Amino acid sequence: MNEIRNFCIIAHIDHGKSTIADRLLEYTKTIQITEGQMLDDMDLERERGITIKSHAIQMEYELNGEKYILNLIDTPGHVDFSYEVSRSIAACEGALLVVDATQGVQAQTISNLYMALEHDLEIIPVINKIDMPSAMPDEVEDEIVDLLGCDRTEIIRASGKTGEGIPEILNAVVERIPHPSGNPDAPLQALIFDSVFNSFRGIIAYFKIENGSIAKGDKVKFYNTGMEYTADEVGVLKMDMIPRQRLSTGDVGYIISGIKDSKEVKVGDTITHVARPCEKAISGFQEVKPMVFAGVYPIDPSDYENLRASLEKLQLNDASLTFSPESSVALGFGFRCGFLGLLHMEIVQERLDREFDMDVITTVPNVSYMVYDKHGNVKEVHNPSGLPDSTLIDHIEEPYIRASIITSSNFIGPIMKLCLDKRGELINQEYVSGNRVELHFMIPLGEIVIDFYDKLKSVSKGYASFDYHVDCFRPSKLAKLDILLNGEPVDALSTLTHQDNAATFGRRMCEKLKELIPRQQFDIAIQAAIGAKIIARETIKCVRKDVTAKCYGGDVSRKRKLLEKQKKGKKRMKQIGNVEVPQKAFLAVLKLD
Ligand code: GTP
Repeated sequence: MNEIRNFCIIAHIDHGKSTIADRLLEYTKTIQITEGQMLDDMDLERERGITIKSHAIQMEYELNGEKYILNLIDTPGHVDFSYEVSRSIAACEGALLVVDATQGVQAQTISNLYMALEHDLEIIPVINKIDMPSAMPDEVEDEIVDLLGCDRTEIIRASGKTGEGIPEILNAVVERIPHPSGNPDAPLQALIFDSVFNSFRGIIAYFKIENGSIAKGDKVKFYNTGMEYTADEVGVLKMDMIPRQRLSTGDVGYIISGIKDSKEVKVGDTITHVARPCEKAISGFQEVKPMVFAGVYPIDPSDYENLRASLEKLQLNDASLTFSPESSVALGFGFRCGFLGLLHMEIVQERLDREFDMDVITTVPNVSYMVYDKHGNVKEVHNPSGLPDSTLIDHIEEPYIRASIITSSNFIGPIMKLCLDKRGELINQEYVSGNRVELHFMIPLGEIVIDFYDKLKSVSKGYASFDYHVDCFRPSKLAKLDILLNGEPVDALSTLTHQDNAATFGRRMCEKLKELIPRQQFDIAIQAAIGAKIIARETIKCVRKDVTAKCYGGDVSRKRKLLEKQKKGKKRMKQIGNVEVPQKAFLAVLKLD
């Protein structure tokens, strides 16, 4: 195992992690890149430029006449996936810390770095994008020195675009990162850091062996789930899976054992032998729990079974997605889906649309609440409309996050105001370097899932980066706000809001819905209510709309086109009582000014 180096790349989003990875694979001739980025193999990932699922790839590299095996473990780059990042990091002995020369250290640079330091990883700092005219490598170097307390000479300047610095990075990986340690003769202990679904082979789990060895045909057990399997195939990951007879301590590889259900393979679990099990599991295992929930409803009710089948398929390669049937008076039959965060929710929505061609209406996202009744019983509620009657509730607790925001000191004022408006509390404030500051807040997650990112971007003119971890549940004075259209409550528009903000919030919801719901052939009353009390009201005046009226003359084709267009627009509408409500109205709360 002396020739093995296991490492990952950690970086803030868009600082060039995938680009650097591609250059390393290219330089070691692991792949020939023509176009696009090889590590991100899902369409969507490429378009978003975000590595959703971590993968691992083996490279061969020669230095001073010695041959080395370098395993690059890819880490997802977004806060929603921070548990997966932490498991990928736990499988490595070293990390490249990539910082964009034009942006400097950002929130996820720091949070990922802390995770790497917790696991005692050797850090190789890399300043990327030095080819860009706006690069400030000297300033960024100062920031990195402040952050790591390292020597300037340890920092590698590179460009994923021109390939500058790539050989230096590879040399540093070999020279500075320690080889894995562990006892090859001890009982097997392998960490699962990722898994993928393959329609022919079932679930493929990726692991790193901490101790012992594993061979084809071995009877193995997954420690936390307690399930037992036969290792039908084990091997290493290059561009393809390369089967091997045996893998030993320090190796990174895959196992195929006929598993069909993604829920049986949990990231962070330990693989051991049935006959000679290890004494304890590798520490740090956690069940990932969805924190953000939303209703997903088919536009056409007859698509309900198709939607279920699509969600089941999505779940095969995304075990963190949860769903259960739900019905809504307004929207009919659908599912309440649980996501790790907002980005995860968007990805699922897009995949439903693209890969499964499902037309769905998604309701406003909300977090999970702990509802305590007067007898001290607690119930987890994932949907505001599922809240018990207020007379039965003793108190409600909501999840709080610990947020880190890095920005320049000019924007402290507006960011502070935004966070306080969102019921946040400032914990502390530290200078990163120069005039850049890191602010820590405790904020209710429920306030973040509503329009926080966009607002943060606008108040900081884009110069703020954000990262968070769910910290705890705290009691809050929450009230359920209902929306009524022509007197009928629309359950899909109910939200939980803090009592002190309820009146303003209700008013803004009504105003926004007035903008979003098109005029119809009768007046529409929009009301906001808490319990039986109406707290706000707006009216949409009726109109007799003849869309073809402006097509003067007899141009039939143009008329038809216009009618077609109108029909298409209707597709994303739901009939509620006698009112037609467009999809965007269900997300009105996300668009409040
Ligand atoms: P996530 O997967 O979203 O975290 O992004 P990433 O960190 O993998 O960044 P990615 O490699 O996708 O790069 C982000 C953008 O920066 C892309 O448009 C790249 O083409 C560009 N980029 C990356 N490295 C360089 C570089 O060295 N020079 C220049 N000019 N552009 C670069």
